Amino acid sequence: MSIISISKLSKAYSDGTNALDDVNLEVNKGEIIALLGPNGAGKTTLISTICGLLTHDSGEIKVDGHDTVTEYRKTRQLIGLVPQEIMLEPFETVYDTVRFTRGMFGYPESREFLEDVLQKLSLWEKRKQMIKELSGGMKRRVMIAKALSHDPKILFLDEPTAGVDVELRRDMWNLVNSLKVNGVTILLTTHYIEEAEMMADRVALLDKGKIIFVENKDALMTRMGRKELKINFKSPIKKIPSTLSKYKLALSEDRLSLVYCYDTKASRTGITRLMRDISNTGFVLQDLKTSQSSLEDIFVSLIRK
Ligand SMILES: Nc1ncnc2c1ncn2[C@@H]1O[C@H](COP(=O)(O)OP(=O)(O)OP(=O)(O)O)[C@@H](O)[C@H]1O
Ligand SMILES: [Mg+2]
Repeated sequence: MSIISISKLSKAYSDGTNALDDVNLEVNKGEIIALLGPNGAGKTTLISTICGLLTHDSGEIKVDGHDTVTEYRKTRQLIGLVPQEIMLEPFETVYDTVRFTRGMFGYPESREFLEDVLQKLSLWEKRKQMIKELSGGMKRRVMIAKALSHDPKILFLDEPTAGVDVELRRDMWNLVNSLKVNGVTILLTTHYIEEAEMMADRVALLDKGKIIFVENKDALMTRMGRKELKINFKSPIKKIPSTLSKYKLALSEDRLSLVYCYDTKASRTGITRLMRDISNTGFVLQDLKTSQSSLEDIFVSLIRK
């Protein structure tokens, strides 16, 4: 069942930039969906329009069945947003910053709730510090705490791990996982494709304001995934012998290895025959290595197309 339903959404900025061009997207309840795309693809614009922070020119967005324009307050309430840019009051304390945001959404102060959120983000010890005294990574944690301050059903993370250290990234993904367990729907944008690979149930690719595809991550990787078999030899090969010409092989620059590309979903990969034919050439094997294309390879090749 979808919790966000976007149909025929278009948005141009006043300078004429077509930031969103006929976008259709259904986000399922409880899933983690990764929105990928190069700089300027329209990811932040899409998130901002869903949140109702930007108006769209045409189309419709429904959040939990409510229209984001006519029922803005209702839909905004359901969403926690961690924006790409850090915006905080430098002279507020950590605790007050989060408490104030909670208040803006009409919730009374709940020390228990706020402590829980701050604890989860390792901010509780720093609750009395002023924002201006925090490091960049700590400020990012505060942005996340703010987004969670009203216990949202949907969380948008716009490049949450840009410029963040390993520890915070790990904490964040733990948090995202625990939110998912509690039924929170998560939409994240990231340029770290290994993050999408690790976290997401589905991947949407946006380019020049258009959705190129939305697909189950595992299915995508199997469909597009290719494997490479690298065969290393003890001594250099002058040229690929004619007995191996029927295979799609590439000779490495140092002439010490042959690279064979094959399709993981093919019923016959051809590896057995290839190895037999190689053995007949008399070349002496040193080592074998296989590697699978990552989501990043897939993504780059799709954008090029
Ligand atoms: N306020 C604005 N006025 C005019 N054009 C804008 C504005 N904000 C964004 N744009 C343009 O709209 C397009 C989409 O921008 P957007 O910020 O949504 O991209 P993005 O996918 O989030 O990129 P990034 O990965 O760099 O964050 C870009 O061409 C950008 O220059
Ligand atoms: Mg952006």
